[in-house]
Amino acid sequence: MTKGKRVGIVGAGNVGSTIAYSLAMNGACHEIILRDNKMEIAQGKALDMSQAAAAVRSHTVVSVAQKASDLTDCDIIVITAGSPRLPGMSRDDLLMINANVTREVVADIKQYSPNAIIIMVSNPLDAMTYVALRESGFDRSRVLGMAGLLDSARMAAFIQEKLGYGGGQIRASVMGGHGDDMVPLPRYSTVAGVPLSDLLTQNEVDEIVNRTRKGGAEIVALLQTGSAYYAPAKATAIMIDAILKDTKQIHPCAVYLEGEYGFSDVVSGVPVMLGANGVEKIIEVTLDDAEKAMFAGSCASVQSLIDTLHKNQFFKGE
Ligand code: LAC
Repeated sequence: MTKGKRVGIVGAGNVGSTIAYSLAMNGACHEIILRDNKMEIAQGKALDMSQAAAAVRSHTVVSVAQKASDLTDCDIIVITAGSPRLPGMSRDDLLMINANVTREVVADIKQYSPNAIIIMVSNPLDAMTYVALRESGFDRSRVLGMAGLLDSARMAAFIQEKLGYGGGQIRASVMGGHGDDMVPLPRYSTVAGVPLSDLLTQNEVDEIVNRTRKGGAEIVALLQTGSAYYAPAKATAIMIDAILKDTKQIHPCAVYLEGEYGFSDVVSGVPVMLGANGVEKIIEVTLDDAEKAMFAGSCASVQSLIDTLHKNQFFKGE
């Protein structure tokens, strides 16, 4: 019998457990293993989800890792662990706290699931993806971050709300880092192939762009006790599905750039082709001068976080 697909999820908070629930409901994998310091809560969630899986006759089993070595031989490990973003807190405030958490988690992944693909979800997303890449030493095709899919989905929802129609037919495009200077691309966003500029005024498009950039904060302000999780989790589950099913579909993801778009040694969100080997191709979209400048600004923000990590001698041997 061939080995069933195993997905490890580190951090069983709202995002981690909603990813697990989404995967369990569509039977994307055979086993989901949750790892969390709050073991009993994780166990309760795993039991609850396994029962939900039984209800829909899904074969997926959800369990809890008692120790680091229980995340052995996973095909994919998602990292959602870390401090969440609280009201008034920027994603960057989380930098040093979550970099240390990521380092510990990645050390275990290296040891127990050395062939896994790592999907980073913890914030600040792009810098944490960089940390996971550096700390794992894995090829860049196996370390990617979730965010472009989330930010594009938010933009699509805002387009639908503004138009009042077109739901399910919207392709919104967002590149760059998962920060306030992300790069929504109205020029590459359509409703059933119709360009946004034929459907909305420039002012309306600008409003959508601004709301997309602040999409995470809008939800943090409403929830008060934490950040969004349904859309972040679904976006992650879509990436996992594409990898496990080897769909070769294009999705915007955070990846380490080595010359693409003119940037190197930095992580940013760009369209990539996902397959069984992770990031199988990085797609280079033609950008106009204004878009290029925005993308450069976003890369500069991520770079400043990476510089802060270097200044704090976070990486060994510095
Ligand atoms: C969001 C935050 C958590 O975008 O990054 O929802």
